Amino acid sequence: MSETSKGKSAIWGGRFAGGPSQLMQDINASISYDQKLYRQDIAGSKAHATMLADTGIISQDDKDAIHRGLDQIEGEIAAGEFAFSEVLEDIHMNIETRLAELVGDAARRLHTARSRNDQVATDIRLWMRAQIDEIDAALAHLQTALLAQADTHAATLMPGFTHLQVAQPVTFGFHLMAYVEMLGRDRGRFADCRKRVNESPLGAAALAGTSFPIDRHQTASLLGFDRPMENAMDAVSSRDAAVEFMAAAAMCATHLSRLAEEIVIWSTDRFAFITLSDAFTTGSSIMPQKRNPDAAELVRAKPGRIMGDLITLLTVLKGLPLAYGKDMQEDKEPVFDAEANLMLAITAMTGMIDDMKANPEAMRRALTAGHPAATDLADFMVRECGLPFRDAHHASGAIVALADEKGCGLEEVPFAEMQAIEPRLTEKVMAVLSVEGAAQARMSFGGTAPDEVRRQIATARSRYGLTT
Ligand code: ARG
Repeated sequence: MSETSKGKSAIWGGRFAGGPSQLMQDINASISYDQKLYRQDIAGSKAHATMLADTGIISQDDKDAIHRGLDQIEGEIAAGEFAFSEVLEDIHMNIETRLAELVGDAARRLHTARSRNDQVATDIRLWMRAQIDEIDAALAHLQTALLAQADTHAATLMPGFTHLQVAQPVTFGFHLMAYVEMLGRDRGRFADCRKRVNESPLGAAALAGTSFPIDRHQTASLLGFDRPMENAMDAVSSRDAAVEFMAAAAMCATHLSRLAEEIVIWSTDRFAFITLSDAFTTGSSIMPQKRNPDAAELVRAKPGRIMGDLITLLTVLKGLPLAYGKDMQEDKEPVFDAEANLMLAITAMTGMIDDMKANPEAMRRALTAGHPAATDLADFMVRECGLPFRDAHHASGAIVALADEKGCGLEEVPFAEMQAIEPRLTEKVMAVLSVEGAAQARMSFGGTAPDEVRRQIATARSRYGLTT
């Protein structure tokens, strides 16, 4: 059925004397992966058939038969009962061939005023649109998990780091809210990409439009697209929406990898800032004591392949002449891979954050080293003693050196010894040397003071539509 007696394609074999070689089939077939697009392909065909009937290009009876057949095929594929064939190359020809078995001649009219070129471009856009909506929901869940932990720990002190050296006291909630903001921008990038994804290539036909009186506005609106793409050649040749989708995925995966790396660091014995749950750690086959943060490590690694996916498609497109070339069949695997791995990373991260237990004592202990209040000491000299900031920085540095010499924290250096270094210092300074005071004092907009962190949490809740 699918092949003529000489192995020729029943779909395009008319001008051929023989069939393709096995190798030709191997390099050409995309059915092993593009079967993922079956729902989109069927939705596109149903919209196309409706439009062909409404414009009088095919009969209503043919349209009804096509819809009936396509519904049955969708059921067969969903139930795993559909026999996909390599010989039929791709999802489009697999479905059309089965449709002909089911409804005969009506199926052979479906491809009027259409090409696989606009068909596949439509399918991938419909697919990306659905995935963007799922990614957005998953990112909102992750934001919610982070926000819940941030709420609990709005006032839990920990060291903030620069260069991974203790810098200034912050709160754990403050640190986590940084990621809520990054993920908010990631959602924004996907939402922005969705606008360009959501335009319909259907009816562009092979590259130049068609002489049939089709209605591209109707098919666009039946499929929920915002509009038909303006130029048929652009519609079949462009894959920048897919590039953008993977660029948004790469950025998001990169954000997740930074959080993953912090989780790895925080969960080491040296830091012990957090404990991961058994559900997101693994043991060692040789070292019985081990509790490894494998999920975090894998999330840390995911940008590698997602960036690779992005570069793969950019490289395929670079220098590719218009209009369609089979090169573009290579868009699908990277797009699928990027989506699947990003979703895994987001959901695994959400599980880790949900389950993670903070250890405020260890965070507080880490603040005893590294003099995190040194900036506050300098700020005090500016505010209360009238020193220029550079002079204050210098004096504070000298007091830090003294504390190191004595092997103690800044707050333990006797006031008289501080005053010997900077005579303008007043005794009130002792109050700002506590890490609690230092964190409380940073109430500038976006700062780490617990009340300001609570404001950030409230703003994020309403701005990102989060429900906890
Ligand atoms: N499987 C093809 C793809 O994914 C469908 C389009 C084929 N078009 C063509 N002119 N051979 O790109």
